[in-house]
Amino acid sequence: MQKLIIKGKRELKGKISVSGSKNSTLPILAASILANEVCLKNIPLVKDIFTMVELLNFIGLKTKFNKKKNLVEIKNNEKNINTLAPYKLVKTMRAGVLVLGSLLTKYRVAKVSLPGGCAIGSRPVNLHLFALKKLGAKIKIKDGYIFAEAKKGLKGTIIRFPSISVGATENALLASINAKGRTILKNCAIEPEINDLIIFLKKLGASINLKGRTITISERKLKKTKIIHEVVFDRIELGTYMIAGALLAKNKMIINKINPKIVKTEIDLLKRTGVKIKKSKTSLTIKSSKNLKKINISTKPYPGFPTDLQAQFMVLMTQINGESKIREDIFENRFMHVPELRRMGAQIEIKNKTAIIRGPTKLTGAEVMATDLRASVSLVLAGLVAENRTIINRIYHLDRGYEFIEKKLKGCKAEIKRI
Ligand code: UD1
Repeated sequence: MQKLIIKGKRELKGKISVSGSKNSTLPILAASILANEVCLKNIPLVKDIFTMVELLNFIGLKTKFNKKKNLVEIKNNEKNINTLAPYKLVKTMRAGVLVLGSLLTKYRVAKVSLPGGCAIGSRPVNLHLFALKKLGAKIKIKDGYIFAEAKKGLKGTIIRFPSISVGATENALLASINAKGRTILKNCAIEPEINDLIIFLKKLGASINLKGRTITISERKLKKTKIIHEVVFDRIELGTYMIAGALLAKNKMIINKINPKIVKTEIDLLKRTGVKIKKSKTSLTIKSSKNLKKINISTKPYPGFPTDLQAQFMVLMTQINGESKIREDIFENRFMHVPELRRMGAQIEIKNKTAIIRGPTKLTGAEVMATDLRASVSLVLAGLVAENRTIINRIYHLDRGYEFIEKKLKGCKAEIKRI
């Protein structure tokens, strides 16, 4: 099993380029079922994307990866289509459930494995199914599978989500782009990845209007021509490297291939701690501060502070003078990194949904274990700022979502290697 070994306390300097967004690529791959031919550019070469492409192959689409160019070509020649997403592919990558909306739209029937729980909580799909039922799908759950059917096609309607969900918004969008008449989705997630999916679906001929948290979809015939789309940058990867810079870029670190407007909340919060950030249209320059100021944050749907950056921000808080707090409002069990950070010397107390971090603490290297994607990257950040050597086990979690992480960090003079 692979491990990462980090020798900490090295100053970070140089340039890092951010990859395409995993969370944007996944729903767009699911949406590709609706097209005849697609070329997706700027896709990150990470495990979840490989799994989703494998799922498309299983369904019967023809895919061709060009890893050197970070692109994938997808063709649907309508031969041997399987309207099934099996357990073995959905269990390791929950986004597999997103093919449900596309399959229902195109083939009016789908059998998709229930994704089950994961380290950060129970992660149900009730909101996905709620929307599909409202659109007229007949849904049954049997033997761990969702059986969905809409023999006469789906019908436009008004759907108000009782709470905000990224995946449910995406599935509802995919299911409604060909629904009869007009669909109005209210209380939607409006993450930049949803916006990217909307851009892709519009290229495909869909009529979609986004205003506030309301998305209106009008029935349209979809195009048969080839769709070319470049995926948006990964704002969570950017946030992770911004925090690395906040911890260790004594002079400056430059992060490229981004749009600072998308991460306004993260930039504002880091500036409030005293970190220096300069923006250009497509890059950021970060410089750490000797006197980091304490801060309290809570995770919220976009444009709020993302839960996917909570663990990383907590590492920064261990270096801030005083008591900082993080309230986790999205997932029920997302403090799995805390015991590992404590083993490295962090002083963190958890009270219900809130973590209280007392700093600054000298972190020291230890052998630690990754538990989920974002928790593992928080251990990488902790290893970078800790004294001595940190060994991170179970880094397959990290490989689900971070492209070339050790190569990118090495490019900024970090001492990190994979064994
Ligand atoms: C997506 C992201 C993930 C991120 C999360 C929240 C992808 C592939 N993953 O996950 O990285 O952490 O958004 O920003 O884009 N919920 C229900 N019922 C449902 C669906 C969700 O109760 O049917 C709850 C969840 O348990 C959670 C909250 O809603 O507490 C938000 O989850 P959701 O936005 O759906 O997350 P995902 O789409 O799974």
